[in-house]
Amino acid sequence: MVTTTPVPTKPRARNTTVALKWAMAVSGILFVLFVLLHMYGNLKAFAGQEAFDSYAAGLRTLLYPYLPHEGFLWIQRVVLLVALVVHVVAAITLWRRARGARSRRYVVHKRLVQSYSSRTVRWGGLIILAFVIFHLLQFTTLTIEVGGSFDSPYQRLVVAFSAEHWYVYLAYLIAIVALAMHVRHGVWSALQTLGASNRRRQRNINVLAYVVAGALLVGFMAPPTAILLGFVK
Ligand code: HEM
Repeated sequence: MVTTTPVPTKPRARNTTVALKWAMAVSGILFVLFVLLHMYGNLKAFAGQEAFDSYAAGLRTLLYPYLPHEGFLWIQRVVLLVALVVHVVAAITLWRRARGARSRRYVVHKRLVQSYSSRTVRWGGLIILAFVIFHLLQFTTLTIEVGGSFDSPYQRLVVAFSAEHWYVYLAYLIAIVALAMHVRHGVWSALQTLGASNRRRQRNINVLAYVVAGALLVGFMAPPTAILLGFVK
């Protein structure tokens, strides 16, 4: 008779691993909702300067007078910052655990056991983090001025992505491709964690992950591409 000896696992470690995966999934979904809304808002660039500038001004008066000027933006900033800390800390903790478990069980070279997507997700995450810091310095604190200083958010956008500053476009393209790849893996992974996935739904979840990632890639890059090619001036 063949008997299998169950691998002893520590229930506490298993429970915290599940909690960390949930934390990653929930914070990740918050980010996805934010980037989808942000991408949609950016498409207002196609409606012209007045529409885009009043959209940017509207962000500052959202829920006013229930909230003070920029109150909503500040709540959003705090929520996103907390989500970022949770996401990064959980990712590092899970990665360390997986690496520890692997080095105990296998004597195989790391690259063989590490999946392609887990490596690209980690590099992608770092690229996105670096991009967000640059992006906030450019459009929120206005510390980095591309092509001059402008009061109008629309002008800032159009000048930054004009053909003269093609390197800014290239930097954004790299970051948005990294974002799309990260979100493709993240949506799939988060829905598995949250239990929305079983074998029957696996295919639909995969399709959803590609649709969200594709929408972000096309939607985010549409205004800068139109500006670069001179269709939006
Ligand atoms: C082509 C892509 C993108 C363009 C053209 C773009 C454009 C902008 C602009 C114009 C603003 C300033 C809005 C305002 O306050 O008036 C802004 C703010 C912001 N963007 Fe983006 N964005 C892009 C992609 C992203 C991505 C991928 C992320 C996140 C991963 C992101 C995160 C943010 C954040 C956090 C803010 C600051 C909101 C605040 O002031 O609290 N953006 N973006």
